[in-house]
Amino acid sequence: MRKFLFLSSLALASTLGLAGPASAEEGGQRIATQGNGKGATACMSCHQADGAGLESAGFPRLAGLNPDYLAAQLEAFQTGTRKNPIMTPIAKALSGPERLSVAAYYAAQQAPYKPLSAGVAENARGKALARVGDWRQRDLPACLQCHGPNAAGVGSSFPALAGQHASYIQAQLNAWKQGDRRNDPGGLMKAVADKLDAADIRAVAAYLAVLPAASAVSALSASDSQ
Ligand code: HEC
Ligand code: HEC
Repeated sequence: MRKFLFLSSLALASTLGLAGPASAEEGGQRIATQGNGKGATACMSCHQADGAGLESAGFPRLAGLNPDYLAAQLEAFQTGTRKNPIMTPIAKALSGPERLSVAAYYAAQQAPYKPLSAGVAENARGKALARVGDWRQRDLPACLQCHGPNAAGVGSSFPALAGQHASYIQAQLNAWKQGDRRNDPGGLMKAVADKLDAADIRAVAAYLAVLPAASAVSALSASDSQ
């Protein structure tokens, strides 16, 4: 898949009359910082140039997420299997090669390190949902079963949740419950979200948000990963 992305980037570079893959990367950076001049506004005005996003506004972190996952989400906004009044028109204004190059740009950014906040240790409900699930009462698998150890993500299908903003995680779980997001393969996330109530969603989002993002996982102490 990385090879495919690389080849696509080369194709983009030649379409734009630019030389080599470094220029395709610059293409992604240009969209992120200046927009594409055709209706896709600069991504950094919301997601920041380093892809950190913004908790208070519900703008997700894009830094360090899988490039194919990011490109697939842009396509989902474009085709309407994922609905959002802000992102839908922006995604529709991007061409296929632009989606790939801007996804590659943000995937290559280092996820910012967020220190573990006090209070996470007491979040027993969030921790149990994330790490154990609730098979006995409601056939609910643990989030980490699909999203990987420490919620660092698995390949292009299961996005990293560690260090993602709590406000955004909550919004997505609610979007699945309400049917605004229908792009999950096999309805896997809809099935999970439907089994969570509002207090579960708050607790599990708060727990996942303070786990260090993949690039900072080595800083995770043994006790945190239990
Ligand atoms: C005006 C603010 C704004 C701008 C500008 C913006 N975004 Fe977004 N973006 C959002 C919001 C809000 C969401 C969350 C949407 C939702 O809840 O589904 C989002 C979600 C996303 C996602 C989904 C992330 C995930 O983890 O699934 C991707 C990918 C994305 N944006 C890429 C971009 C790109 C690329 C650009 C620039 C071309 C861009 N965005 C510009 C506000 C913005
Ligand atoms: C059976 C597998 C599975 C389980 C269990 C699971 N997820 Fe997911 N999750 C997925 C898949 C697949 C996606 C990607 C959907 C897509 O392609 O849009 C996803 C995406 C997400 C996203 C969107 C992330 C983003 O960047 O937009 C959030 C938030 C999320 N899951 C939260 C959770 C939480 C919280 C739990 C536990 C309560 C959980 N998931 C359990 C499979 C799973």
